[in-house]
Amino acid sequence: MSDIHIDPDRVPKHIAIIMDGNGRWAKKQGNIRLVGHKFGVGSVRKITEAAARIGARYLTLYAFSTENWNRPAAEVEGLMKLLSSTIESELSSLLKNNVRLCVVGDGRLPQTLKDKLQRAVEQTSSNTGLTLTLALSYSGRWEITEAARQIALEVQSGTLDPQNVDSQCLAAHMPMSFLPDPELLIRTSGEYRISNFMIWQTAYSEFYFTDTLWPDFDEEQLLLAIADYQKRERRFGQTSEQISSK
Ligand code: FPP
Repeated sequence: MSDIHIDPDRVPKHIAIIMDGNGRWAKKQGNIRLVGHKFGVGSVRKITEAAARIGARYLTLYAFSTENWNRPAAEVEGLMKLLSSTIESELSSLLKNNVRLCVVGDGRLPQTLKDKLQRAVEQTSSNTGLTLTLALSYSGRWEITEAARQIALEVQSGTLDPQNVDSQCLAAHMPMSFLPDPELLIRTSGEYRISNFMIWQTAYSEFYFTDTLWPDFDEEQLLLAIADYQKRERRFGQTSEQISSK
């Protein structure tokens, strides 16, 4: 049992995570990088269950970036196989735990994986618990470009007046528009960057960085991140006095 105290009424509704450090975790033990990814799946399971139990409504995981395609072919292939087998093996648990699975990305995935993901998304679509979104072949710049392209098409066809293109309009055209902005963004493994993840939606997110490598990230680590988040004052550009008088 953990003795980390969090306020159940101020749990972030949406937690986004850059899962990093699988490769270093494996290498530290003299294993190949894929072993780290395999153990990383264990953390995905633990954190999904913990996030739901703690009362978060949305959990978004950066599982594969558009830049990750540039990794050695054997690692990419291994990751695709791992994702495919994980979706298959975890589907019953997602259904049992009332988790809705969503996927966002440019669709550049092997067809068999795409089919499995689509089936899992469909089968969990009426679940009312945690929404677990996997960002797969995803990048923030891709997403913003996608929104711009949709807007351009609507302007061209005459269904959208360019005068009405504002930040709300752009947000509504993002592939992740079905999600609220994350209050908390966590990155593991001691790296301090956003790596093209949800660059639009994290404009006012609180960032939490930890040295823990993703395969070692567990419920206690998640509670530490939330406890840290709960100590912060979110001002959204206003003054401290304005916030405390609300
Ligand atoms: C980053 O660690 C991790 C990834 C690029 C892949 C994440 C994938 C998983 C955790 C497995 C499957 C996920 C799901 C959602 C079932 P890294 O390889 O960049 O590590 P390094 O920085 O130490 O090299």
